[in-house]
Amino acid sequence: MAIVDELNALQAETLAAIEAAQDTAALEQVRVAVTGKSGTLTGYLRSMGQVPKEERAEVGKAVNTVRNVVEAALEEKKSQLGRAELEARMEAGAVDITLPGRSQQMGTRHLISRITDEISQIFIGLGYVIETGTEVETDYYNFEALNTPADHPARGMQDTFYVVDRSGDVAAVRGESDVLLRTQTSGVQAHVMERQEPPIYMIAPGKVYRRDVADPSHLPQFNQIEGLVVDKGITFGDLKGTLDYVCKAIFGPDRKTRFRPHFFPFTEPSAEADVSCGVCGGTGHLHNGERCRMCKGTGWIEILGCGMVDPNVFAYAGIDPEVYSGFAFGLGVERIACLKYNVPDLRMLLEGDMRFLRQF
Ligand code: DAH
Repeated sequence: MAIVDELNALQAETLAAIEAAQDTAALEQVRVAVTGKSGTLTGYLRSMGQVPKEERAEVGKAVNTVRNVVEAALEEKKSQLGRAELEARMEAGAVDITLPGRSQQMGTRHLISRITDEISQIFIGLGYVIETGTEVETDYYNFEALNTPADHPARGMQDTFYVVDRSGDVAAVRGESDVLLRTQTSGVQAHVMERQEPPIYMIAPGKVYRRDVADPSHLPQFNQIEGLVVDKGITFGDLKGTLDYVCKAIFGPDRKTRFRPHFFPFTEPSAEADVSCGVCGGTGHLHNGERCRMCKGTGWIEILGCGMVDPNVFAYAGIDPEVYSGFAFGLGVERIACLKYNVPDLRMLLEGDMRFLRQF
């Protein structure tokens, strides 16, 4: 009978195709072509109505047999290919469980943050208040109110980043002041004196910016801690006593301090404070007689600027210099950190090398 022969041929053909399928996608193609909605075998099932009555039982049986055989073969091949593919995937994505694990690196506080906090704690212990200023500042607070007018030569020492507006012009606030990135934390002094009646005992830690190229002793962005005391009867003796105490608290009780005359526009008299060198013990030379490189043989290391608040600065802030006096100081946090831990190059503080940072 023609149809039954056709069906047998279709079965043989389909079984061969199933056998030849290399992967589940190819097998699926065979399934769709034979038993899918418009598959060849489905076509026979659909056209059963056209088969003459007397042949229908036999043809129907044959179609069902072919369908059962084909479906069983598809099922068998599918699980076989599925297993193989799963094995291949497992092999490709294999994890070597004998490798040591990769643990998350734990960070630490940065040396600069730690030193800033350490120094802040020393001043908090003395009853000082922590103030904060803004890094974007006006020319008025960064220079002018600190007795540093536009033509003052001290401005040349602090090459300034100016903030420009969209047209490229130096930005102005209320049309009166140039806007800049503060070159020193000293501007916080002017803000605090303007808004607060003495007595004032404050420090202001924060970032400052200068147009310097980074080298072992310069960074275009660094941290300072500003200090200001305004009260009745404050003398240079208070300045020396306070800063000597603070230096010993930072570097150790055996360190000495000295004050050298210097110039700052906002203090008069002004001084730079030195701390005795920790490497050579203040002698300027090592045990073997060699010159100490840390202090260049002087026995002293400069650590901060300071002085008595200039009456002009009080005048800008509206404080009566006949009633009040005060002292101010500014120190560089990076410099203190490097001195305390003998770090030879300031840039190491910014490189983010964990081998360096983990030591502190
Ligand atoms: N602002 C100074 C600087 O950046 C440091 C300084 C010196 C601050 C003397 C002071 C001071 O308050 O009295 O070089």
